[in-house]
Amino acid sequence: MNAKAQVKHDASEGSAARILLKDVRKAFPNAGRDAESADEILVLDGINVDVDQGEVVAVVGPNGCGKTTLLNLIAGLLEADAGDVTLDGKRSESVSVAYVFQNFRETLLPWRTAEENVALPLELAGARRVTARATAREFLRRHAPEVSPRAFPYTLSGGQQQLVAIARAIVSQAPVVLLDEPFNQLDSQYRCQVRARFLDLWASKAQTTILVTHDVEDAILCSQRLLVLSRRPARVLREIRVPLTWPRTDSAVHDELFSEVERTVLQLLRGERS
Ligand SMILES: Nc1ncnc2c1ncn2[C@@H]1O[C@H](COP(=O)(O)OP(=O)(O)OP(=O)(O)O)[C@@H](O)[C@H]1O
Ligand SMILES: [Mg+2]
Repeated sequence: MNAKAQVKHDASEGSAARILLKDVRKAFPNAGRDAESADEILVLDGINVDVDQGEVVAVVGPNGCGKTTLLNLIAGLLEADAGDVTLDGKRSESVSVAYVFQNFRETLLPWRTAEENVALPLELAGARRVTARATAREFLRRHAPEVSPRAFPYTLSGGQQQLVAIARAIVSQAPVVLLDEPFNQLDSQYRCQVRARFLDLWASKAQTTILVTHDVEDAILCSQRLLVLSRRPARVLREIRVPLTWPRTDSAVHDELFSEVERTVLQLLRGERS
């Protein structure tokens, strides 16, 4: 049984989209910021990525290599200089994408409570306000019970704010979910708890998910496939299928298969640092 079947993702619901990047190039104007004398900073060059419907793929790579840029291109927030980025064969603007930004704090609406923030994508999708808020409240109760639904973001801790941002991204059935360092505000114990909730959620949802993380443990535990990026300009150094079975729990970190993947990834990342 392949990993995808093991997670029981049901792409037939039509709620997952294939993400395809073909020979993508992206550069930014240098504007004197970088010591390089070139006019532009080449961030991504010749990037090819194919994420199947309902698949969860983790992306790891050194700081500044272009991971967030990659997500921004998929979300349609940036346009590639060359190559194609498509979601189910369409331009990304025409497919709804849920995105937990690396700077998630700036994306929580300060005038809305936690529950109202989580309800936002449901309201935008046309749900009645009262229904959307009831769904959001119930979602927070089940998956983030430590967050008070009626609290405003400024009254929540960084970790609680991050939970609200994650809940807002996954409450809807957006065909694509992009998570940029989604657990980085959580302490290690809490992170494990939240990750466990996610593993459960991912086992029952049919959303194509890309998880960017610096935490190799998160990357391996949460994904079916891992992409290790090189330093800038990023290229895919290695693609690793995670051989762990589903359902997964934290105890999978003691599995020899886990350690093997971890060793490979750390070695590749060390190579990029030196
Ligand atoms: N809008 C922009 N304008 C100019 N340069 C940019 C822009 N966005 C990103 N960059 C540059 O592109 C490079 C890649 O940035 P990006 O944020 O994608 O890296 P990253 O891999 O997500 O890094 P980190 O792990 O630190 O989050 C960096 O050198 C950054 O300065
Ligand atoms: Mg980033």
